[in-house]
Amino acid sequence: TLLPPPPNRSALCNPAIQKDSPKVANVVDIEDIGEKAVFCRCWRSKKFPYCDGSHNAHNEKTGDNVGPLIVKGKQ
Ligand code: FES
Repeated sequence: TLLPPPPNRSALCNPAIQKDSPKVANVVDIEDIGEKAVFCRCWRSKKFPYCDGSHNAHNEKTGDNVGPLIVKGKQ
C-alpha cells in the first residue's frame, strides 16, 4: 500500500501547535475577556490562542502581513 505523501511543512498554516490533535479549537469564555483580549491569527505564538507578538518575526521573514484579532469588552 502507498503511504500518503509527508506534509509540506512550508504550506501548513499551523507549523507546530498541538500537532497531536486532528483539529485545534479553542474556547474562551467571554466573561474572562475583560477590557481586551488579543488572539493570534499567525499560528506562531508561544501563548496560542493569544498573540505574543511572534507575527512580527513571521511577517519580516516571509513577507506576509498577518496580525492578531483584538476583541474589546464593553467599556
Ligand atoms: Fe500570532 Fe500575533 S503572535 S498574531
